[in-house]
Amino acid sequence: MHPNRKPLIAANWKMNDPPVGCYTSDSPFRSLPGVDVWVFLPFIEWYGAHNAGLVYGAQCGRPEPQGAFTGDISMLMLKHQHFHAVLCGHSDRRHFHQESDAFIAEQATAALEVGLIPIVCIGETEAEHDAGKTTDVLKRQLKPVIDVLTAHHSLPTTHFILAYEPVWAISRGDPNKPAATAKDAQDIHARIRSLLPKDRQATTRILYGGSMKGSNAAELLAQPDIDGGLVGGASLKLEDFRKIVEAAESR
Ligand code: PGA
Repeated sequence: MHPNRKPLIAANWKMNDPPVGCYTSDSPFRSLPGVDVWVFLPFIEWYGAHNAGLVYGAQCGRPEPQGAFTGDISMLMLKHQHFHAVLCGHSDRRHFHQESDAFIAEQATAALEVGLIPIVCIGETEAEHDAGKTTDVLKRQLKPVIDVLTAHHSLPTTHFILAYEPVWAISRGDPNKPAATAKDAQDIHARIRSLLPKDRQATTRILYGGSMKGSNAAELLAQPDIDGGLVGGASLKLEDFRKIVEAAESR
C-alpha cells in the first residue's frame, strides 16, 4: 500500500455532546504513530478539542469567506480556529440541507484554497442501491469533484480524502444496523479508486463509513482499498471507538 495512505479513523460526533473522557490524556481520539485520528465535532466544541491537543475538523463549511449566510461558518473562519479538515457532502447535509454535487465541489475548492483538507462524502441511498444504480450515482457525485482535482493538479494527494458511505448502512442511532459486507465495501472502494485521475489512484485515501464498530472494524480495515473509517454512532462510545483505532493500528 502506498505510504500516503496511512490509516485514518475520523470520528463524526454529528449533533451530539462529546463522549465523556474524550479530552483526557489516554483518550482514543488521539493519533497514534501508525494511525491518524481526527474528530469532526459540533462547532462549539472546537475550543475543548484545541485545548486537549486533538486534531479536529468541521462537519460542514460555507465556501464564501464571509457574508449574509445566517447560521453558517466559512472555510476561512474554520481555518482561523485551527480546524484541520472539513466534511463536504455528508449524506445528512445532502438530505437535510439539499446540498448538491456542484455545491459540494465548491466547498471542497474553498477548503483546499484556505488549506483545510476536504473529506468528500459519496454514497448511494437504499433505493438507488436496490435499483442497481450505485455506480451511476458514484460517477455523478464524483464528476465535479474530479474536476476540482484536475484544476488543482499539483495538490499533494494527502490533502484530499474521500469517504464512501452507503446511506443504507448509516446507523442513525440504530446500533444493530448492519454495515456493508467487507467484500462489497472493498469492491466499491476499488471501483471508486478506478474512477479517480490516474495519478491519484494509488495515493488517495478512501474511508469507509456506515455502521463501522469495534466488532467489524478489523475485517473492513483489512481490505486493500479501505484506508480507514468515518465513524458516527461508535465514536460516541469511548471503548468501542478505541477498538476501531486499535484495529486500524494492527491492520
Ligand atoms: P454511523 O455514521 O457510523 O453511525 O453509521 C457514519 C456517518 O454518518 O458518518
